Amino acid sequence: MMDPSSLVESVAQLIAETTSLDGLHDVQVELLGKRSALVAARREVGELPGPERPAAGQRLQAVREEIEGLLAQRRAELEEDQRRGRLGGDRLDLTEVVTGARRGRLHLVQRTRDELEDVFVGMGFVVVEGPEVETDWYNFEALNMPPAHPARGMWDTLYLELGEPETVLLRTHTSPVQIRLMQAQGPPIYAVMPGRCYRRDTPDARHIPVFHQVEGLVIDHGISFAELAGTIETFTTSYFGPHTHSRLRPSYFPFTEPSAEFEVTCSICKGKGCRTCSHTGWVELGGCGMVDPEVFAAVGIDPEEWTGFAFGFGIDRLAQMRHVIADMRILLENDVRFLRQL
Ligand code: FA5
Repeated sequence: MMDPSSLVESVAQLIAETTSLDGLHDVQVELLGKRSALVAARREVGELPGPERPAAGQRLQAVREEIEGLLAQRRAELEEDQRRGRLGGDRLDLTEVVTGARRGRLHLVQRTRDELEDVFVGMGFVVVEGPEVETDWYNFEALNMPPAHPARGMWDTLYLELGEPETVLLRTHTSPVQIRLMQAQGPPIYAVMPGRCYRRDTPDARHIPVFHQVEGLVIDHGISFAELAGTIETFTTSYFGPHTHSRLRPSYFPFTEPSAEFEVTCSICKGKGCRTCSHTGWVELGGCGMVDPEVFAAVGIDPEEWTGFAFGFGIDRLAQMRHVIADMRILLENDVRFLRQL
């Protein structure tokens, strides 16, 4: 038969080394359960000669009680540890310095759009919006580009699989909003129309396939190219400050006649020539011109009575030049290290 005192010693060590309540439960099963050495010993007591049985039985009972005591004591310790751990986790440390949630901010393109709206509202314009999904008629035809007109090639268009083939598209510019506005409201008109545009353009330092434009339209009695040039000049000075040079360069758009491109000195190289401006020293911000009489005809405005000018500037391009961003693609990357700087 086993020696009870050496059993108690090894059991005491086993219990002391147990570090979890689950582990302690397993130890208890091992020590006192049906398959334990103690239960086996009790069976052996039954086989002892009658007179020896009571004393052996009492010794075994004492061992059992001792083990039970050790288990109870360890259980109490482990429960206390667990309670302390929970309290520690829940503790409210009033001295801890918690940095507040960082305040978000509007994306640079949205802020630029808001600033542009402010500049033009300050000049007496109203702000109007139009849909990003357009019909061929609004995006091209009403702007003096009938089907198969070669000028359509100026815009790499993304068509939608909706209706007849090539009749519904993601607008390539904000100019269709001019048409919608002229239809909805007769002259006089002084409006800017900001919004998102889409082209199948390969991304590079100055192009992204999803970008933003702000369209401008002024129609009134006696509007001439001088009003257009003056408006662009006033806008450039308010938006960029007096040190940015701008110029109008003759150009072609089917919906304006005459037409021009509006350019500013490249802010990256200060006009010396760099990768961003394709080594020209100038960056095109938009197109403009006097509204073509064909456009007036499409919406039923009398070109003998009214004249007007229109422009369409790239908002992302304006932001790029004003904030000296060498590559426009970073505007879409959502790198917070970049976004936080601006
Ligand atoms: C137009 O889209 C004409 N609708 C502008 C216009 C309006 C002319 C009214 C006359 C009267 P253009 O394709 O050049 O023109 O684009 C105008 C501006 O949009 C560009 O100068 C540029 O600033 C911006 N832009 C065009 N494509 C992109 C692109 N892929 N990524 C970023 N900006 C672009």
